[in-house]
Amino acid sequence: MINKIAILTSGGDAPGMNAAIRSVVYAAFRAKCDVFGVYDGFLGLYENRMINLNLDHVSDIISKGGTILGSTRYSGFFNKSIRKIAINNMKNIGINALIVIGGDGSYSGAMSIFKMGFPCVCLPGTIDNDVAGTDYTIGYFTALETIVEAIDKLRDTSISHQRIFIVEVMGRYCGDLTLAASVAGGCEFVILPEVDYLPEELVNRIKLSIIHGRKHAIVLITERVCDINELAVFLGNEIKCETRTTVLGHIQRGGSPVAYDRILASRMGVYSIELLLNGYSGKCIAVKNDKIIHYDIIDTIKNMKRVIKTDLLEIAKNIY
Ligand code: F6P
Repeated sequence: MINKIAILTSGGDAPGMNAAIRSVVYAAFRAKCDVFGVYDGFLGLYENRMINLNLDHVSDIISKGGTILGSTRYSGFFNKSIRKIAINNMKNIGINALIVIGGDGSYSGAMSIFKMGFPCVCLPGTIDNDVAGTDYTIGYFTALETIVEAIDKLRDTSISHQRIFIVEVMGRYCGDLTLAASVAGGCEFVILPEVDYLPEELVNRIKLSIIHGRKHAIVLITERVCDINELAVFLGNEIKCETRTTVLGHIQRGGSPVAYDRILASRMGVYSIELLLNGYSGKCIAVKNDKIIHYDIIDTIKNMKRVIKTDLLEIAKNIY
């Protein structure tokens, strides 16, 4: 019977991770289970750094950004002997299940622990919204707000100086944040990792908007697609307009979570305890059409594909 549960946050931190930790601790408390918080993700699990979390530890963290437990990307966990030590660290104090909050890299860590016979459940916590099977990940909507706020500010200065701004957004290999922010921020062009674009198309689009009287432009692009400084030089030459670049960077990961992220994290946290207490393991939690559901972790990692929101892309193109 599951009665002692470890929880860790892993990978890039995301606003709402604390709300998820809080929810797990409260739900576990109601079910008379103990929760142990693991510091610094899988690294802390291996190094046996844990704290018995009580309600006081989590009672006022719902509005806090980041993660009170800390997070790392720990490649050592690919090593089976390290995982064995981590599992023994939990078993030694009677922990019989693990909850992992993170992105798909963290899901792989959880999967490998599950394969070694240790009960495990995952929650999607990443700003990137790149986890297959879930409509949204914890942290995505807060990051989106941060980006749109930044775009609004850049637009002010972009208009004043009649400049083109190229703004680089996080997302790793996923354009979800960029696409949604481009619509919400009313950007003139969006460049995504999932969709090929022609530089001539970009140039023509901006030239056309200049013909229609607009004197500035904001181009939103997902990180890693190309070198934005080179793109700025190219655009400046083609359009004969001053061009600037802005990398929004890690500011996108910070801040107090917006209400939706807090609610999503709270729903998923409660559900994770329900799953474990009902004997489920090797599962990851998702939200689909506003319903909290679960899949096998292995399906999310290996068999399911994340799809680009083509309807939103069409909308973005229609209102350039
Ligand atoms: O996964 C979240 C994320 O912020 C990505 O968008 C980004 O590519 C990456 O993490 C940055 O990682 P780090 O904080 O390790 O530089």
